[in-house]
Amino acid sequence: MVVREKNAELAKLAYGSNFEQVSSAPVTIALFTDTDLDKRARKIARVGGANNFSEEQLQYFMKNLPAEFARYSEQQVSDYLALNAGLVAMNLVLALTDQGIGSNIILGFDKSKANEVLEIEDRFRPELLITVGYTDEKLEPSYRLPVDEIIEKR
Ligand SMILES: Cc1cc2nc3c(=O)[nH]c(=O)nc-3n(C[C@H](O)[C@H](O)[C@H](O)COP(=O)(O)O)c2cc1C
Repeated sequence: MVVREKNAELAKLAYGSNFEQVSSAPVTIALFTDTDLDKRARKIARVGGANNFSEEQLQYFMKNLPAEFARYSEQQVSDYLALNAGLVAMNLVLALTDQGIGSNIILGFDKSKANEVLEIEDRFRPELLITVGYTDEKLEPSYRLPVDEIIEKR
C-alpha cells in the first residue's frame, strides 16, 4: 500500500529513529504479504488466464501450487511469505534507486497495529515499511565484507 495521507499515523508505529524517517518521508510503502496462498494462486490464474494462459499454466496455479501450499506447515508459510517480501522489497528499492529516488527499508515498527491503522484486512500480513523520497545528501556506500569472505568455492 502506498501511504500518503495516513503517513503521520503510520509513523507512530515506527520504533526509535524510524519514527523520524517515516514522518519526514513524503510517501511510505507498507509492504504486506497475502497469507491466503490458495486465493492468491487462483487470482494469478484468473488474471493471467484473461491474458491467455496455457492449460498447463492454469493447471499449475489452480491445482499444483495450492496442493503444494497445503503441505506447508505454519512455519513454512511464514518463511515463504517473509522470503517473498524480502525479494519484492529488494527489487523495489533497486528500481527506485535506478530512478534516482531514495528509500529505506524498515523492519522496526509495531506490526500488530498496522492493519488497523491502514484499514487492511487481517488476511494481509505486514512485513516492511519502505520510506520513499528524494535526498540532497550524497550518500557513501556502506561497508561490505569482501567477496572472498562471503563466497566459499570448493
Ligand atoms: C530486513 C531489513 C530491515 C531493516 N530495518 C531497518 C529499520 O528498522 N530501520 C532503519 O533505519 N533501517 C532498516 N533497514 C535498512 C538498513 O539499515 C540499510 O539502510 C539498508 O539495508 C541499505 O543498506 P546500506 O545502508 O547498508 O547500504 C533494514 C534493512 C533490511 C534489509
